[in-house]
Amino acid sequence: MKKIILFGKNGQVGKELQHTIKNMGMLISYGRSSANFENLSALKKIIKEEKPDIIINAAAYTAVDRAEDEQKKAKLINTDAVALLAEETKKLNGLLIHYSTDYVFDGKKNLEYRELDATNPQNIYGQTKRDGENAIQSINCKHLIFRTSWVYSNYGHNFIKTIVKVAKIKTELKIINDQTSTPTSAEFIADVTAHCLNDLLLMNNELMSQKSGIYHLSPNGKTNWYEYAKFIISELSFLGVHFKTPTENIFPITSAELKTAATRPLYSKLNTDKISSTFNLDMMDWHVPLRKVLSSLAEQNQ
Ligand SMILES: NC(=O)c1ccc[n+]([C@@H]2O[C@H](COP(=O)([O-])OP(=O)(O)OC[C@H]3O[C@@H](n4cnc5c(N)ncnc54)[C@H](OP(=O)(O)O)[C@@H]3O)[C@@H](O)[C@H]2O)c1
Repeated sequence: MKKIILFGKNGQVGKELQHTIKNMGMLISYGRSSANFENLSALKKIIKEEKPDIIINAAAYTAVDRAEDEQKKAKLINTDAVALLAEETKKLNGLLIHYSTDYVFDGKKNLEYRELDATNPQNIYGQTKRDGENAIQSINCKHLIFRTSWVYSNYGHNFIKTIVKVAKIKTELKIINDQTSTPTSAEFIADVTAHCLNDLLLMNNELMSQKSGIYHLSPNGKTNWYEYAKFIISELSFLGVHFKTPTENIFPITSAELKTAATRPLYSKLNTDKISSTFNLDMMDWHVPLRKVLSSLAEQNQ
């Protein structure tokens, strides 16, 4: 039986992974309190003692705006700790599964981004995530790096939770309509991760190494934050949740009108042909996993 270490067990993706991979091996899960990525020597000690076959890293510094002021901390967690995971995985001849972001791109392509497109992050978070990817690839342990976008779930902080909260208090909302990508549910990410891991576990070392690389992971389709917010409010209203903001009082604004500390890419839709063909996956439309999360949120908000 393979020994699997999961880091970041309390995050959106980490929480879902705990369910989906629990029967795929002997799973040991760590949160920030038991494995803090700011303490590299303690992190190394855990891996040296446990000697896992597989490390899944769902931990990350994800506060995109705050990262502009906390560059050192973001780098330590998203780059330096990730490099350490890759080095230790290589020594153990293990497999590292890691997550990255559409924010590694500058968003100027205006076409779906493919895995080999040049990265050019526009903010500190994106830079530290891109540097984490580069560290894994240059150390070259067996790895899967899943780049994903606009993650949401029933847990934690995300756009849906924020919209629900403010639409209950305010009578109108102004939401950005010039940033385009794909909302991706943490459950969907965990399911696809389990599917790919299952495939790799059936392969020998050589084949596993051949499959190493970056894969884009998101459902089909795309939207912008404004359309996404309108969909969330109209769907939840239909399911019986009461808001002060009716959908007709949600108004579009541009990124330039909403000042944020970090610049975000305007177009970061990820092309998923590579993951689909390599792992024989049919991606579903982004509304499908979203409706599932919204119906469970509706129950909690009755
Ligand atoms: N969220 C998005 O929209 C998005 C978009 C694209 C890609 N991604 C990527 O997807 C992956 C999963 O994201 P997510 O949305 O699940 O993130 P999340 O909900 O913010 O979870 C991140 C986890 O990392 C943990 N963490 C933060 N600092 C840590 C530290 N110093 N030591 C150990 N753990 C620490 C957090 O611990 P606490 O629970 O203690 O805070 C949290 O559980 C990340 O690699 C992220 O970069 C996310």
